[in-house]
Amino acid sequence: LRDEGLAKIKATDNLKSLNDIRVALLGKKGKITEVLHGMKNLPAEEKPKVGAFANTVRDTLTEALTSQREKLEELALDAKLNAESIDVTLPGTPVAEGEPHVIQQIIDQMCDLFMGMGYQVLSGPEVEEERYNFEMMNLPKDHPARDMQDTFYLSSEILMRTQTSPMQARTLETHDFSQGPLKMVSPGVVFRRDTDDPTHSHQFHQVEGLVIDKHITMADLKGTLLLMVHELFGEKFNVRLRPSYFPFTEPSVEADITCMNCAGKGCSVCKNSGWIEVLGAGMVHPNVLKMAGVDPDVYGGFAFGVGPDRFAMLKYGVDDIRDFYLNDVRFLTQFSKKG
Ligand code: PHE
Repeated sequence: LRDEGLAKIKATDNLKSLNDIRVALLGKKGKITEVLHGMKNLPAEEKPKVGAFANTVRDTLTEALTSQREKLEELALDAKLNAESIDVTLPGTPVAEGEPHVIQQIIDQMCDLFMGMGYQVLSGPEVEEERYNFEMMNLPKDHPARDMQDTFYLSSEILMRTQTSPMQARTLETHDFSQGPLKMVSPGVVFRRDTDDPTHSHQFHQVEGLVIDKHITMADLKGTLLLMVHELFGEKFNVRLRPSYFPFTEPSVEADITCMNCAGKGCSVCKNSGWIEVLGAGMVHPNVLKMAGVDPDVYGGFAFGVGPDRFAMLKYGVDDIRDFYLNDVRFLTQFSKKG
């Protein structure tokens, strides 16, 4: 019985038949079990001898079953691993990788330039206190210029910022002038209650710039703007300052750059002037400095606010600002840096 069992166990090549053999030998109605049960009918003096022998047969068979089961399981695992092996040389499925939005590309380019000149790059809250957006920017409650910027109010004191200029007040308030001059740019989204059309969007971007120190002049402002235009558009472009009005700068200017459509010769895009308006700027108003706790008799400087959306439209000849916000990949991938 033992040799027969061992031979059968060795011969099996699958776990199912191995289990059948185990049941046939050692199961409740198995042959060995039968022998062990049959012992009660033996004469008393034979019992120990037969019992001991039957037990060793049972142990031998159990051992053989276990080792054969382990062997078969290992073989099954090997087979499975072989069948599921991966060809690592096969080309992978390409993953579509995103990249910065065209407006973000322009913002990044501006920030890189200014960081290289020692400016801090700061971001401010889009949901802003009315105090920072208007009051601290020298626009008291009944100031008519508040109408220039139609505002989304969230409550009487909280609004969606209409400009990045509140970051002027916020940084002036916290800057420690004993550590050196204040030089910062602050890019971000602003909101106005405009009806969307090709040249208006209720949401667009601005990059605010602010430089405050002891002897800053308007020439520094013009030089800085010229540098920015050269960096973003090229050396051929010039900057022109025109007198203007903002409540938080005095004097205030609007800056034009050479029309890229006609290189300054005059065309329909620039209404034959040869220039295109791109930003507002000026020397920071003494009231703005005072309200933020900075002494206007000691410190002064310039501020500017540029619109990267407008820059992108001019640079790439985009004629509808809304295209930047629809997020149609077919439109956006045209500005891919990856070619
Ligand atoms: N905040 C102004 C605007 O939104 C632009 C500006 C910024 C003008 C800084 C002067 C100085 O139109």
